[in-house]
Amino acid sequence: MLVLVLRALPVSLRLSWRLPGCTSWGGTQSRGISYLAEAMRLVQFQTSSDGPRIGLEEKDGGNVIDLNAFDPSLPRRMREFLEVGDAALAVARRAQESGQHILPRAQVTLLAPIPNPGKVICVGLNYADHCQEQNVKIPEEPIIFSKFPSSVTGPYDEIIHPAESQEVDWEVELAFVIGKKGTHIKESAVMDHIVGFMVANDVSARDWQMKRNGKQWILGKSFDTFCPLGPAIVTKDCVPDPHKLGIRCKVNGELVQDSNTSQMIFKTQALVTWVSQFITLYPGDVFLTGTPSGTGVFRKPPMFLKRSRKTLVSVYT
Ligand SMILES: *[C@@H]1O[C@H](CO)[C@@H](O)[C@H](O)[C@H]1NC(C)=O
Repeated sequence: MLVLVLRALPVSLRLSWRLPGCTSWGGTQSRGISYLAEAMRLVQFQTSSDGPRIGLEEKDGGNVIDLNAFDPSLPRRMREFLEVGDAALAVARRAQESGQHILPRAQVTLLAPIPNPGKVICVGLNYADHCQEQNVKIPEEPIIFSKFPSSVTGPYDEIIHPAESQEVDWEVELAFVIGKKGTHIKESAVMDHIVGFMVANDVSARDWQMKRNGKQWILGKSFDTFCPLGPAIVTKDCVPDPHKLGIRCKVNGELVQDSNTSQMIFKTQALVTWVSQFITLYPGDVFLTGTPSGTGVFRKPPMFLKRSRKTLVSVYT
């Protein structure tokens, strides 16, 4: 058995929101967005000596402030941390300003920011360019599906290429995280329920998604490690408009997806309003908002991930 579980397809995710730019927006002059505070990059990490802890990444790839060292009363798991709500975020902000309890990046391994979301809610056919590439009509209602939460893996972990699939594909997606419980959430209230944004790779076994299992997508979407998330939850205060972001995927250095979240059909507000009429949303629930054009299955000829390929997915301003 173990022999089949090849360590393959190392994946790494980057989320580069150009933080220095964001910080300067907090000043009085620039671009009229003076209400923006400095964003935080919330991470779940471990060190060689201690299990999951919550931290703040100083910048993409930077050192990590240990929030549990700053305030030992804080939960050590992101879901519980988010359940505490604004009070926990306020402690995080104080820790960021304190300049204390900083761990050198080399001592830290980042886990998925939410290793155990209650649900992973996904949207199919949600980019205009992705509909065009497969010659299907733009959906009139959101197409909601899900990945089992056990598919979540860390931002620099390897994706296991299962022996059961010959058609493993990539999908870069903008993800967001629910920070406050809600049901029947109005569009105008949606941002109150979101804590921040992440990058996701909605890895998909196309053979199992599209041809097997009665064409129910869930198996092909939910193999172990098929949902890399991270590297951080970038708090929403740095993302004035999540629908004006660059979004990209590279496979072994080759740019395969290159689009803009402005191509999204059902936007963040509409998605939360739609889903929350059926399902109560809880802190730590994760949404994956769909992928742009350039997936492997719709290329001519199709191209799939082979073992030891590297995928790099990014969302950026
Ligand atoms: C994405 O599109 C928006 C709206 O068209 C534009 O303002 C923004 O600069 C684009 N972002 C990137 C990174 O290309």
